Amino acid sequence: MFRRYLSSTSSRRFTSVLEEKAFQVTTYSRPEELCITRGKNAKLYDDLNGKEYIDFTAGIAVTALGHANPEVAEILYNQAKKLVHSSNLYFTKECLDLSEKIVEKTKQFGGQHDASKVFLCNSGTEANEAALKFAKKHGIMQHPGKQGIVAFENSFHGRTMGALSVTWNSKYRTPFGDLVPNVSFLNLQDELTKLQDYVSSKKDEIAGLIIEPIQGEGGVFPVEIEKLTALKKICQDNDVIVIHDEIQCGLGRSGKLWAHAYLPKEAHPDIFTSAKALGNGFPIAATIVNNKVNDALRVGDHGTTYGGNPLACSVSNYVLDTIADKAFLEQVSKKSEILQKRLREIQAKYPKQIKTIRGKGLMLGAEFVEPPTEVIKKARELGLLIITAGKSTVRFVPALTIEDELIEEGLNVFEKAIKAVYA
Ligand SMILES: Cc1ncc(COP(=O)(O)O)c(C=O)c1O
Repeated sequence: MFRRYLSSTSSRRFTSVLEEKAFQVTTYSRPEELCITRGKNAKLYDDLNGKEYIDFTAGIAVTALGHANPEVAEILYNQAKKLVHSSNLYFTKECLDLSEKIVEKTKQFGGQHDASKVFLCNSGTEANEAALKFAKKHGIMQHPGKQGIVAFENSFHGRTMGALSVTWNSKYRTPFGDLVPNVSFLNLQDELTKLQDYVSSKKDEIAGLIIEPIQGEGGVFPVEIEKLTALKKICQDNDVIVIHDEIQCGLGRSGKLWAHAYLPKEAHPDIFTSAKALGNGFPIAATIVNNKVNDALRVGDHGTTYGGNPLACSVSNYVLDTIADKAFLEQVSKKSEILQKRLREIQAKYPKQIKTIRGKGLMLGAEFVEPPTEVIKKARELGLLIITAGKSTVRFVPALTIEDELIEEGLNVFEKAIKAVYA
């Protein structure tokens, strides 16, 4: 089957895609008319069906430096010839370099001022599992019952049991019965005094609080700086570890290296997690902690076979060097302005269909009055790939390197799709 994929020529419709699909478990819903064969920066190509697409999804905020990035390809090739994997039994230079780089660049670019240590793993959900374990370990060392986790409505933190337990959408959680106990979901719209009373009344039961500084899957909701600052103060007063999940909103996507770099120093998290863009599509993730958290950890507390392997680390070293750069980040903000301006023009033309535009940097959302399923379908038909967030929001998370003209071109297609659906 794979050989048939590779040998198929550009415009021939490849009918066996569905046949292939039959051998995969039933957990994804994918458009049947589409099979991606290659990419270039913010474009994707389906050579099997002879189609090309402007990609505003970037593999769900992953390929920040574009598809088929030539430097990434070369790094992978050269590293693969040297060393792919040696496990965490031994140090490797790539892993040491990357950990140091994450800590140094984080401080240099206004992120967690007391960042001290890094745990490397393979996916976002794993980075959050580590963060939850570390927060619990710190809590238990203060008081045996200090194990609970506070999370928020609309949150998304991953699909493994720990990360799933702190994910809000019950559709993802309830089919799996008992999850990690002692999780409470608070509402970010609640008065701060309510959040404060809750945390302080359960001081000896709560180990950590996990939050996305910009909620992604839940609908692209940036959390106000004042709220994040107040939450950190509440947690600090009650010795609760604050975890920021920057898996989607980190690494330049917000216009700063980390979304929490918008916060004053005293509001920085004790732990933050990164994945997605960290490998530009090659799986790698990181859990970054301060000394307070690291002091609770002992040899054997956590581990992974693949995490921080030289192949992944060599790509991430390049990704960080590229994104942690003043000029690069300024470009992200400029591209964000172009995207937002045009989106607002479209909203002005369709005020009955589009309720709000919100977000930060190149993580933007257009909330529709109803689920935008038909708009997304029509856009795809016309050559634009977009995804939803929450029930009614179209999410825009293109490559941070997307060409300005392609933003315009893509949004023209978006407008055409809206027109076609609502005409
Ligand atoms: C904020 C956030 N956290 C965690 C995850 C889970 O990451 P992964 O799919 O790599 O496990 C995601 C994925 O979309 C995410 O957006």
